[in-house]
Amino acid sequence: MAHVSITLRQSIAVLSISNPPVNTLNHAVRHGIVRSVREAISDARVQALVLVGAGRSFPAGADIKEFRGGQALNAPVLTEVCDVLEQSPKPIVAALHGTALGGGLELALGCHYRVALDSAHLGLPEVHLGILPGAGGTQRLPRLIGLQRALDLIVSGQHISAAAALKLGLIDQIFQAGAPAAAEGTLLDRAVEYAQGIASRPLDGRRVSELVPRDKSTFDQSDVWDKALATVKAQHRGYDAPIRIVEAVRAAAQLPFKQGMAKEYELVVNLMKGPQASALQHLFFAEREVGTVPGLNPSLAKPVRSVGVLGAGTMGAGIAMVFLNAKIPVVLLDTKQEFLDRGLAGIRAVYASDVKKGKLTEEALAKRLALLTPTLDYAAFANVDLAIEAVFENMDIKKQVFAKLDAVCKPEAILASNTSTLNIDEMAAATKRPEQFIGTHFFSPANVMRLLENVRGKKSSPSTIATVMALSKTIKKVGVLVGNCDGFVGNRMLEGYAREASFMLEEGALPAQVDKVLTSFGMAMGPFQMGDLAGNDVGWRIRQGKGMTNPATRPAKEGRYCELGDKLCELGRFGQKAGAGWYKYEQGQRKAIPDDAVAKLIEAHSSSKGIARRSISDEEIFERCMYPLINEGFKVLEEGIALRPGDIDIIWAYGYGFPRYRGGPMHVAQTIGLKKIYTALAKYSKQFPTSHHFVPSKLLQTLAETNTTLEQHLATKSKL
Ligand code: NAI
Repeated sequence: MAHVSITLRQSIAVLSISNPPVNTLNHAVRHGIVRSVREAISDARVQALVLVGAGRSFPAGADIKEFRGGQALNAPVLTEVCDVLEQSPKPIVAALHGTALGGGLELALGCHYRVALDSAHLGLPEVHLGILPGAGGTQRLPRLIGLQRALDLIVSGQHISAAAALKLGLIDQIFQAGAPAAAEGTLLDRAVEYAQGIASRPLDGRRVSELVPRDKSTFDQSDVWDKALATVKAQHRGYDAPIRIVEAVRAAAQLPFKQGMAKEYELVVNLMKGPQASALQHLFFAEREVGTVPGLNPSLAKPVRSVGVLGAGTMGAGIAMVFLNAKIPVVLLDTKQEFLDRGLAGIRAVYASDVKKGKLTEEALAKRLALLTPTLDYAAFANVDLAIEAVFENMDIKKQVFAKLDAVCKPEAILASNTSTLNIDEMAAATKRPEQFIGTHFFSPANVMRLLENVRGKKSSPSTIATVMALSKTIKKVGVLVGNCDGFVGNRMLEGYAREASFMLEEGALPAQVDKVLTSFGMAMGPFQMGDLAGNDVGWRIRQGKGMTNPATRPAKEGRYCELGDKLCELGRFGQKAGAGWYKYEQGQRKAIPDDAVAKLIEAHSSSKGIARRSISDEEIFERCMYPLINEGFKVLEEGIALRPGDIDIIWAYGYGFPRYRGGPMHVAQTIGLKKIYTALAKYSKQFPTSHHFVPSKLLQTLAETNTTLEQHLATKSKL
């Protein structure tokens, strides 16, 4: 039960906030703080107050469940709580440990002093939820640490250490935490001592709302705010909240506190009502849920203390780094010393750049590299807990590799494949341990991208699944459990999207037009920019492997086929790495420049197929790319390949540059309306009968025809 207790330590009242696990500021807590502060103020024995979080943290934020649905909060709201604290005639010291984030930090800003354990982290991460700090954070923080620094912190939403906060003047003193178990006691003792030290001092200059931002004069110059806004717009393309944050901080610079608070309130209320906040909050809850697999006991997870990686190419080297970064020893194998050396050189280059940027010390680098054992010998895999294969995308080679691994790895070891397209069950069948077989589909660059699709095979055991799901967290990935099918979730959904993009080229569009429509929607890149970055040859080789590039061997079930991608590759236009792809590139540059040669190629192609080119509207481009993608999402859901719509959205947000402020494709589907999407798919399906990805999913059709939302559908499903 949430509550706030008061204990008197000599003349200091200690107000301890308890709302496990992280003391979020729900209504009971807010009410309790106000009541306890008033009680302590009226107690003649009390000279000063200390506000602390019980257990492992100072309040780590507001209770975001209370915001869901956009309803008004019950009084006292946090703004009122902060005012009560600040107006106290007796000094109040906020004693921080754990994470003082969002509403938690705003609470601390309402106090007159802030002290912290050195292990504490602070921040105002509201921007990640599409809102801004709405309890004085945008008005008090600039007054305390300056406008520029406050802007940087609030716009980025980053967490900072207690040491960094001390430097900024955000806190007044740091205490050494000592052993974690004793941290809370240490903090309390030191904070009480600190409070005794300041108890008799006047409060002049300690009420943050009365301060003037120290860099106010710099920001009084006319164009500074315009520049700040332009920078934020460029860095956070499409996002509303960062823009509103600039407006709120500007109010802190230009208006008296009270009016600034009114502006902050107006801005936050508007953001909360807007579509971006609901999209980002949807993703927040989806991310919380994604690691949970219904019916799976997480305690079945086995520890992974060492890992073997096969193939030291692009993915293998990246995957090795992921484990090294998590301090897990890695054995890395390739077929030839020169391939191994190339992989190692890649790893060293990434780490060297981290050292150069100050992200890694030489000492830490040496420790990491000491955990890496390059080898040409399978015997080195005898003791690993997990072996991940990242060799060429070829079933025969993969099967041979797994047969060897099966023979040398200890019986309890798990075997995993990083394949992006091949059948997990077929590989599992090449081993005598299909229960301990699973797909771990990393994204490139593996050491950077957070997404990990964990592909369960038919026979993958609960323990194997639990192990890789737990491991995903250890290696700081967002692990999503998916089923085994061609392309799994992400790449499968990508297919119709990419194909339609090409079909529209032969009907009349050019790459830049298609890409522009999708980047305007917020995608990090359009399909043709993405092809050029990833290498157009990758897909070409896969198509060649499947016999698609040759009309004589192309499977009839493929339906409509566009040869443009093949023609491009025949010209060596593999993308950025070749200096030419769908676009041209100046040497060493990544800027995609539309190329007349490509336009001519496309026009000649249309004419060779007898297609009369026409003007294609932006709306048609959007629908024909995005709706098949969403349609496939519904198919993936109805087949049980994805567990929840939120899992699909997480995959797209973390693996494919889908704009987070749109909430992912399934959330977008709800926003657009299932009926509208279904109707359009049915229309396109008639117009383009050989484009199979337009055939509407049964689930989508049912929901559209019965006017049911995905949420309603899931609610009825979970009741069954
Ligand atoms: P790559 O060609 O860069 O690297 C493959 C490495 O495996 C090479 O160093 C090669 O020498 C080695 N190798 C080949 N046969 C081997 C064997 N029998 N034993 C040991 N090593 C062997 O390929 P890349 O891009 O790293 O792809 C590897 C796997 O990861 C493929 O299955 C691919 O589909 C998958 N994948 C690739 C992604 C990408 O963006 N490149 C993304 C996700 C998955």
